[in-house]
Formats: sequence, structure tokens, C-alpha cells
Amino acid sequence: MKKTVKDVDVKGKKTLVRCDFNVPMQDGKITDDIRIRAALPTIEYLKDNGAKVILMSHMGRPKGEPKKEFTLAPVADRLSELLCTEVKFAQSDVVVDDSVKAAVDAMQDGDIVLLENTRYRKEETNNEEPFTGELASLGELFVNDAFGTAHRAHCSTAGVASYMPAVSGFLIEKELKFLGDAVNDPERPFVAIMGGSKVSDKIKVIENLLDKVDTLLIGGGMAYTFFKAKGYEIGTSILDEEGIELAADLMKKAEEKGVDLEIPVDTVVASEFNNDADSAMVASDAIPADMMGMDIGAETRKIYTAIIEQAKTVVWNGPMGVFEMPNFAAGTEAVAQAMADADAATIIGGGDSAAAVGQMGFADKMTHISTGGGASLEFLEGKELPGVAVLEDK
Ligand code: 3PG
Repeated sequence: MKKTVKDVDVKGKKTLVRCDFNVPMQDGKITDDIRIRAALPTIEYLKDNGAKVILMSHMGRPKGEPKKEFTLAPVADRLSELLCTEVKFAQSDVVVDDSVKAAVDAMQDGDIVLLENTRYRKEETNNEEPFTGELASLGELFVNDAFGTAHRAHCSTAGVASYMPAVSGFLIEKELKFLGDAVNDPERPFVAIMGGSKVSDKIKVIENLLDKVDTLLIGGGMAYTFFKAKGYEIGTSILDEEGIELAADLMKKAEEKGVDLEIPVDTVVASEFNNDADSAMVASDAIPADMMGMDIGAETRKIYTAIIEQAKTVVWNGPMGVFEMPNFAAGTEAVAQAMADADAATIIGGGDSAAAVGQMGFADKMTHISTGGGASLEFLEGKELPGVAVLEDK
């Protein structure tokens, strides 16, 4: 167990808080503020307990240079609205300079300052000096609450912890509890649902889960690589060449371990990658040579729904089809609906499946939706996340 903000005295302390404010933006406007809202409990606790709150985050991948489109200024505005208090934006193209230091020195207990995008500095992603030391010079206590970036060993997520006491915020605590309990101490039956396009990207997650789950449901683009491994014709469906052998191996391992690994029995196919393309529903071993798989079929939806209904723990990562196109969203929607209806702990592993659940209106029906895409995947792989490893144990 990691120490949290509740295990240390924060009153009057200059507290460097790493959040993940890497939110989607369009024309300078935030289009989804879930990650900002998820950081509020820690910020509010620190403020209410008299800390001087210095917030840090990255936004996008500006590759070590200041780039206007990646400024965190809109995040400061949204935070001010959500917290009903001023969050001062310490604008600086180099993130830490004399004006930023002066702004921090002038802080009263309970004040909140947001630094500029940490990835404006090239050292950030290499976890190098002098940036780590510059950030550290601003604070006395480090709080990591950026679960979405905890799989990165950067100056602001890991490096600063070598300069001062380091504890977790409430978001990291919550993510570790829900994901950790689901994987390490699941109520059974435990069902994992894996989608997305590449088997090779998710191979380690699937391997790790094979040791833990009772049933593994495969869908999305990666299903076609499993079909290929079984010798089916997959037409023009997306194929992960290097995943073919891995898929065959996973099916063999599942059998050896007594895990029920299900692949779709039927598939919605289309003549091209387009919502209005000609489409049909076919058996998975009968995909026409000139068609591509776009979604799991109706029979598969029924089978998967019945399995999810019986589950006590369900972890889902990756959509079942091209859910962004309404004509190919039914499979993803069926899985989301089944999870919403299930009397089970339901965990969504971030990324596209979190977006799908939000878009389809099921967000408040799930036990936990992770704010980490890559981070939750690495956690499900069984890896220790660097941004968590640096935090003090209780
Ligand atoms: C994410 O969106 O997954 C995190 O904010 C990490 O971003 P990154 O993949 O650019 O490190």
C-alpha cells in the first residue's frame, strides 16, 4: 500500500502535484474534462488542508518545445470554474523561471497555481536534469495523482520523487484499488473482454489475464488475426501479421489453462471502411474475399451478453467494432449494455472503451472507468508503474 496525502502533514507545504490534464482539445477548447474532474478530490483536499498547491501536467506531445496549441492555459480556466476559486496559470515557455518561482513564493496556504506543459522541456520525457531539479526547487512534498501517465518515468512523474517525500493522490489510490482488486482478488466468474486492432499490442495483457480469468472474450479488429490463425478467410479485414502466431499460441495456452477463450462466431462485414458501405452478417469462417470485418455479429452479441450476465467481475479493454460509425456500433453497445446490467464489478480499462461507454451513456452504470489508457494496460500486464513505484510505502 502506498502512502496518500492523508498520511502526511500538508499544512503550509509547497506541494507539487502531478495530474494528468492531457485532455482532448478542439480549436483551443476542452472537449472532454473527465480527467480534470477526476483530479478534483485531491486538489480540494490539499486546498482545504492548507497546502500550497502547485499543479503540473503534460498536454499532448510537443516534443520538448513550447507550442501554443499545447498550452495548459485552458485547463487553468476550467479548473477555476470547477473549483469555484482562482487557479493561477504560471505561464512560462520554460515551465520554471524566476517569474514562476516568484509566483510560488507569493502563495498563501490554500492557493493553487498551475505550471505550463511539462513537455515544453526536452528533459521531461527522458527524466533528466536540470529540469527535474528545477521543478523540485518549487516544492517540499510530491503528490502523484496522474494515473494516466504513471507508466511514464518522466521528470514530473518520477524524477522529482528523489528530491522530497512522495505520496499518492486519491485518483491513483482509487485506480490501484479497483484495477488491483479486479485482477488480484476477483469475485468469480471473472470475465475479461479484449478488443482493439492489434494482438501484438495486447499480447502481454492477454497472457497475464489468462492466468487469472475464467473466460476471455475477443472482439474488435484483433478478432480477424485470431480468425487467420484458425485458417479462416478474412477478406480485406485488418490483420496484425506478427500477431498470427501469437494468437495461435494464446488459444493453445488458454486450452492448457482451462480458460474459455471465445472468438466471434459471426461477423458484420462491409465492402469498405465507411458507415454507408454495403454490409452483411456472415459466419466468421465465411467472410467474403472482398469484404472486411467491422463488428461482432448478432449471435456473438447474444453469446457474449449471456457470459457477461453470469459474471461477478468484468474487465473490458478495447471496442468490439468500429463503434465510431453508427452502423457498426451494435457489438460495442451490446457489451456495454450487458456490463451495465450485470450484477458484477465492472471495470473499463480506459482509452477507446472508456470513450465508447461515455458516448453510449453507460458511464454511471460501471463500477470504475479508468482514466488511464496505456497505464491501465501496463497495469493489467502485471507491470509496476514507474510513477507508482517511486511513492512511499505505508
Ligand atoms: C495518455 O493520454 O495516455 C496519457 O496522458 C499519456 O500520454 P502519452 O502517451 O503521450 O505519454
